[in-house]
Amino acid sequence: MQPASRICGTGHFLPPIVRTNADLERMVETSDSWIRERTGIRERRVAPDGMVTSDMAAEAAKHALAAAGITAKELDLIIVGTVTPDMPMPATAVFVQQKIGASCPAFDLSAACAGFIYGMRIADQFIRSGAAKHVLIIGVELLSRVVNWTDRTTCVLFGDGAGAAVIGPAIGDRGILGTNFFSDGSLALSLMIPAGGSAAPVTQEVIDHAGNKVAMRGQDIFRAAVKNLFSASQAVVRDAGLLNSQVDWVVPHQANLRIIDQVVQRAEYPREKVLSNIEWVGNTSSASIPILLDESIKAGTIQTGHIVMMCALGAGVSWGAAVVRM
Ligand code: ACO
Repeated sequence: MQPASRICGTGHFLPPIVRTNADLERMVETSDSWIRERTGIRERRVAPDGMVTSDMAAEAAKHALAAAGITAKELDLIIVGTVTPDMPMPATAVFVQQKIGASCPAFDLSAACAGFIYGMRIADQFIRSGAAKHVLIIGVELLSRVVNWTDRTTCVLFGDGAGAAVIGPAIGDRGILGTNFFSDGSLALSLMIPAGGSAAPVTQEVIDHAGNKVAMRGQDIFRAAVKNLFSASQAVVRDAGLLNSQVDWVVPHQANLRIIDQVVQRAEYPREKVLSNIEWVGNTSSASIPILLDESIKAGTIQTGHIVMMCALGAGVSWGAAVVRM
């Protein structure tokens, strides 16, 4: 099928504070070697007090708009993938709309680490149907505010950041060649923030037991990630009429280096085709793919005409994949 939409420009923002594994050794009972061996992470970024999710999203969005060569007024839709919104209501996307000077509809999308892939699928459908010409998709997380900094099993994993892409009309065979997305709610409780919604409003008792912070069954997520990222990425390439050998770059969600290694080994992608920045940014959830994509484009690694496969899985569990010709 001829592509309808393409990635016209990307941008990202990382907050300035660096939190290293050595910093974490002083906060919880952990070690630099444990974190590096189990996850591949050396350091992550943390937003300073006063910075909110929409601030980071707006910065990434401005870079993406500049790279795409369009103004915010030319946007037809803004989609913000996040599980760490500025507040439960209204959508973070409307704050982004104001901060970048846009006037189009704007909504949030809750698919955790798969938010950017979900956003790509929606943007592609809007452009394919003629309902939109330019869609801004943003993956942004301020996870440092919802991580339990006394829980060593989760606090070492996550980082803050934002990544954005302007999706616009395809040019010839350059564009989004395929997307897919999936959910399996049977694993819903494997990764969650249990309180703060209708199921468990925040009370002092909830706060005392860190019920308003991230809780995870890491091995459930690990197994689900390897299995589903493999199947989704195989399917998206096959359904686009391509072979894995035609993929120039794999841009996987940066959850954990061991998950990435197992997926790419099963799919038999050469390791040198697999891009990664988890060492320096940690797991930034929905922001991880667009940050890595933008870094790799700006570095000249990903170039015009290259075929790029992206895949992500996160809380839900929700997952998906996309393949594009840049
Ligand atoms: N430092 C030192 N020891 C630790 C730490 C830590 N930070 N965290 C856990 N441990 C200990 C455990 O307490 C346990 O000790 P015990 O044997 O005395 O009970 C031991 O290390 C092994 O724990 P496991 O949970 O079995 O460790 P595992 O090898 O599964 O690694 C990890 C844990 C890294 C969380 C892994 O399960 C994982 O990567 N899961 C995927 C989770 C993930 O990526 N989540 C991100 C969000 S979802 C997504 O992005 C896909």
